[in-house]
This record gives sequence, C-alpha cells and structure tokens, in this order.
Amino acid sequence: MNTLALERRITKTLAPTVSIGNEKLIALDGITKIYLTEEIETHALSGVHLKIQPGEFMLISGPSGCGKSTLLSIIGLLDGPTDGSYHLGGREVSGLSLDQRANIRNQEIGFIFQSFNLIGDLSVYENVELPLAYRGLKPSERKTMVLEALEKVDMIHRKSHLPNQLSGGQQQRVAVARAMAGKPKILLADEPTGNLDSKNGMLVMDMLKQLNENGATICMVTHDERYAKFARRVVHLFDGKIVDETTNNQAHN
Ligand SMILES: Nc1ncnc2c1ncn2[C@@H]1O[C@H](COP(=O)(O)OP(=O)(O)O)[C@@H](O)[C@H]1O
Ligand SMILES: [Mg+2]
Repeated sequence: MNTLALERRITKTLAPTVSIGNEKLIALDGITKIYLTEEIETHALSGVHLKIQPGEFMLISGPSGCGKSTLLSIIGLLDGPTDGSYHLGGREVSGLSLDQRANIRNQEIGFIFQSFNLIGDLSVYENVELPLAYRGLKPSERKTMVLEALEKVDMIHRKSHLPNQLSGGQQQRVAVARAMAGKPKILLADEPTGNLDSKNGMLVMDMLKQLNENGATICMVTHDERYAKFARRVVHLFDGKIVDETTNNQAHN
C-alpha cells in the first residue's frame, strides 16, 4: 500500500484524545456476556469480578470455550459486556460509545493475538506505524517510535518486508513491536505463544517480561503451564466464571 492510501485510511478514523488514570487500573464487577446467534444464547461470561493493579503481570487460564478471549476483549474495549460494570483507571467505561472506546484503546491498550493479525498488504514498518498514525502523531514522531520498537524486537532489518515473507516467530515479534510502540499502559495478549515453537514462545515471553519491568500492566491468556512462572497471579476461568486464583511468589514481579 502506498503512503497516501495509508494516510487516507488513517485520517478517516482520527478521534479526540481520551486518557485514563492510573489508580485501580482495571475493575470488573459482575460482568456477564451473552452472545445471541440464531435464537441460541451463549453465556460466555457469568458474573466475573476481577481487579488488576497497575504493573501486574497476570495470566488467565482455562479450557477452550470457557470465555478467556471474551474476557480479554471486554477488558480491551473491543466488545462491551451484556451486564455489569467496568472501571478503567477509575472511570466507568461499559457505557461508552464505539468511538470513545476506540480512542481509549488506541491510546492506552496494546494487543497481541495468537494469529499475529498483521495487515497483509502493509510492510512491517507500516504495520507498526498504523496505530500511531491513528493517534494523529506526525510522521517524524512515528518514525522514531516505530524504529525504536522494531529495534527492541530485533526486526529492523526486515522493516520493508510483508508479513507473509516472515516466519511465525518474526511475525509475532512485529506484532509485539506494534503493541508496544505507543507505550500503552496495558498490554493484552491472547495466547501469544500458541502458534510458536518453544524457542520463539520463550522469546516473546521474555519481551513481555521486559515490557512489564518497564511499567506495562500485562494480562495474558495462555493454556501453557510453562509460562505460569512469568506471572505472579493466575486466574482460572471455567464456564464463564472465575473458579480459582493462584499466586506465584517465585515470579519476578
Ligand atoms: N462472537 C460470538 N458469537 C457467538 N458466540 C461466541 C462468540 N464469541 C465467542 N462465543 C462463544 O462464547 C464462549 C466463550 O468463547 P471464548 O471467549 O472464545 O472462549 P476461549 O477463549 O476460552 O476459548 C464459547 O462458547 C464460544 O463459542
Ligand atoms: Mg480464546
């Protein structure tokens, strides 16, 4: 995609700045989510209470279909709950408009997904630049931030490549760069190591650990027991409810 088309894609969606406070970073109270499809109700979440403090590295675990991705998408303002309240930085956000949600997301939240979710017709550089452009930052400011992020994940040498010219591990490193380039307060990762071999999985975990040490609050969904040691707190989800919580005092944070 050429730069002009990219700028056009961006300016269409610019929204005014909204920011969130740092206290009581995330507080979910009685969150439910019901999906309605062809008259079938799926209760994906049933009364979830969860508090996440600034600077935490926490994991959400549980079997397939128990509501982990739904919970993460509500925390990340990609979706709204059917019922319950959600305070983010001390502010009720469950009733915000789509634009307001998108704006907070763009300023404060970074996402990393199992399937990388890079845009296929944008280069590595442009993929990392896109969320910064949505913030309305100038190209020169964007450039500094993109290059800094790509440097951190050791991908500068591939900045002009397209995603399909990279290995899975490299694509996820680019996705990590995209998530962290704007220095979000909150990083949400949905099984970020699920499509990676163990070496690349560990690399991604080490990057998340570093970001957490630099102040980001991390909430990560994983099935993989090997990664439990990175987090101080593991929340266990089953059938849309939090059924257990374990703390790991050996964790680094
Ligand atoms: N967009 C959707 N429409 C309808 N049902 C959905 C949707 N997304 C998820 N679900 C259902 O909600 C439940 C929880 O899904 P999900 O949060 O993706 O679980 P997990 O990430 O733990 O595997 C599942 O039964 C799933 O089929
Ligand atoms: Mg999931």
